[in-house]
Amino acid sequence: MTIQAAKTTGQSRMLLTNLVTLSALIVLIISTCEAKQPHILLVVADDYGFHDIGYHGSEIRTPNLDYLAHGGVRLENYYVQPICTPTRSQLLSGRYQIHTGLQHGIIWPPQRNGLPLDSPTIADKLREAGYTTHAVGKWHIGFYTKDYLPTSRGFDSYFGYLTGGEDYYTHYTCYGEMCGTDLRNNTEPADQYKGSYSTHLFANRVIDIINKHEDDKPLFLYVPFQAVHSPLQVPESYEEPYWFINDRDRRTYAGMVSCMDEAVGNITMAMQQRGFWDNTVMIFTTDNGGQILYGGNNYPLRGWKGSLWEGGTHGVGFIHSKLLSDKIIGSVSPGLMHVTDWFPTLVKLAGGNLNGTKPLDGFDQWNAINNGDNSPRTELLHNIDPLTPPSGSPVFNGTFDTSIRAALRMGDWKIITGDPGNSSWIPPPTLSKVAITIKEGHPPQTDVKNLWLFNIAKDPNEYNDMSGQEPVIVKKMLDRLQYYQSTAVPCIYPDDDPLADPAKHGGFWGPWV
Ligand SMILES: *[C@@H]1O[C@H](CO)[C@@H](O)[C@H](O)[C@H]1NC(C)=O
Ligand SMILES: *[C@@H]1O[C@H](CO)[C@@H](O)[C@H](O)[C@H]1NC(C)=O
Ligand SMILES: *[C@@H]1O[C@H](CO)[C@@H](O)[C@H](O)[C@H]1NC(C)=O
Ligand SMILES: *[C@@H]1O[C@H](CO)[C@@H](O)[C@H](O)[C@H]1NC(C)=O
Ligand SMILES: *[C@@H]1O[C@H](CO)[C@@H](O)[C@H](O)[C@H]1NC(C)=O
Repeated sequence: MTIQAAKTTGQSRMLLTNLVTLSALIVLIISTCEAKQPHILLVVADDYGFHDIGYHGSEIRTPNLDYLAHGGVRLENYYVQPICTPTRSQLLSGRYQIHTGLQHGIIWPPQRNGLPLDSPTIADKLREAGYTTHAVGKWHIGFYTKDYLPTSRGFDSYFGYLTGGEDYYTHYTCYGEMCGTDLRNNTEPADQYKGSYSTHLFANRVIDIINKHEDDKPLFLYVPFQAVHSPLQVPESYEEPYWFINDRDRRTYAGMVSCMDEAVGNITMAMQQRGFWDNTVMIFTTDNGGQILYGGNNYPLRGWKGSLWEGGTHGVGFIHSKLLSDKIIGSVSPGLMHVTDWFPTLVKLAGGNLNGTKPLDGFDQWNAINNGDNSPRTELLHNIDPLTPPSGSPVFNGTFDTSIRAALRMGDWKIITGDPGNSSWIPPPTLSKVAITIKEGHPPQTDVKNLWLFNIAKDPNEYNDMSGQEPVIVKKMLDRLQYYQSTAVPCIYPDDDPLADPAKHGGFWGPWV
C-alpha cells in the first residue's frame, strides 16, 4: 500500500467515522425530541394524611408509593389547600382561589358553581401541546352545565364521579333530601358498575386506557382516586393485615390506603409493560390533610383537613421519573412548592405554551426539583376566605383585618388570621398518647385570639406563636395580605338549587342547567 493510498483509506475511514457519528447524532437528536414530551401520570389521593404514607413513619404500609418516592424526589416543603375543591381547582388552573371566586368551602352538589371557564385547564394546555388527555376519578370542580364537565375542559375522555364523595360500591350519594347515583362515562350516566369498588374500577379503567393508547402520542393521565375519603369502606382482604390496629376507623382507612397503593402499583406496571414508563413523569399528591374524624392522621403536624394549620395544608407529595437527573434521585426537595406550581411546571415540561391563561399564581419548579436550584416560590397565599364568619376584632387599623380567615407564607414565616379551624395535635391511635404543651407566647390582644405567627422552618408543628415577639414581620405580612385581598375577585357561593335534584334527572347527579 502506498502512502497516498494509506492516506486515502485513512481519510475515508475518517469520513466513515464522521458519518457514523453524524447519524448517531441525528438519531440522538430525534430521540431527544421525542423524549421532550414525556407521558404524564398525575395521581391525586383524597383526604390522604401526612402521617399515612410509609416513608413518613406510618404504621400503614405503602410499598409501591414508598418505592416510587425513593426512586424519585420527595417533596417535603409541599403545600395543598385544606379541602377538596380548592386544591383541585388550583391544580387544574394554576390559579389561587382568590382569583377564581372559589375562596369559600367546596362546591356542594346543587350549587350552580364551577371553576370559571375563562382560563384554560392544564388539560387544555397539554392537549394543545399534542397530548391525549384522560381523567379518571373524582372531579368536584363543578358540573351544573355541560360546559363544566371534564370533556369540555380539555379531557378527551372521562370516567368518574362529579361530586365530593359517595358510596364506594353503589356510587350513590345524598345531599340532604336529594339522592342519586354519581358515575359518568364521558358525558353519559354509567349505571352498570354497581358493586364495583371504585379503587379497582378506576385503576382498571386507567389500565384500559394505557393498553389502548397509540404508541406515538404523549399521554396525560389525571387520576384523582376516590380513596381514601369517607365513607370508610374497603374489601375485607385489604383490612385484614391491619388486625393490630384496634381503632376500627383507622383499621378500615389503613386498608383503603393499601388498596390505593396496590392500584398505583398496577397502573405503573401497565405503563412499564407498554414501554411507556421510562418516558413518564409521575406525580403523586394528596388534595388536603387527612380527616381525623374518618381515620386519617397528620401527626406530628397541627390541625387537620379543613384547617389552615399545617395538618390541613402541608401535603404528602412526590415526583418519580427516569427522566430526573441521577444526582437528585432518592433525595428530598426542600424547596417551597404549592399545588398551583404543577400547571406551569408540567406544561413547560411537555413543551407546551402558557399563552392565553389568566395570570398564573404557580411557578415552574422543574429546575428546583431536578437540579436542586432554589425554589422560585418565596411566598404562598394559603387563602383569604371572606365568607367564614369573622373571628374576634381587628388587631390593627390600616392593614389586613385579622378577624378574616386567612393565611400567608413568606419565606419561613407563616401568618394565620381569623378562625383557622381545628387546632389540636392528634397522634395516630396506634401511638401512645404524647403530651403536648401549647405555648401560646402572648395572651390574645383582643377578645378572641385571631392572629398567629410561626417560623415553619424552625417550628414545623406550630407550637410557638411568635406574633407577640415579631411585630415588624406581623405588620409586613398583614400588609401583604391586604395587597392580595386587593387582587381578589368576588367570592362565588350560590344557594342550593332544588332543580339539581337527581330525582328530576333519571336518578343521576349531573348537569341540570
Ligand atoms: C364508555 O362509553 C363508550 C362508548 O359508549 C364505551 O365504548 C366504553 O366501554 C365505556 N367505558 C366504560 C368504562 O364504561
Ligand atoms: C391489581 O392487580 C391485581 C392482579 O391483576 C388484581 O388482583 C388487583 O385487584 C388489582 N388491584 C387494584 C387495586 O386494582
Ligand atoms: C372540628 O372538629 C369537630 C369535631 O372534633 C368537627 O365537628 C368540626 O366539623 C371540625 N371543624 C372543621 C372545620 O373541620
Ligand atoms: C398558544 O400557542 C399555540 C402554539 O404554541 C397556539 O396553537 C394557540 O392557538 C395559542 N393559544 C392562544 C390562546 O393564543
Ligand atoms: C381602630 O379604629 C377604631 C375607630 O377609629 C378605634 O375605635 C379602635 O380602637 C382602633 N383599633 C386599634 C387596634 O387601634
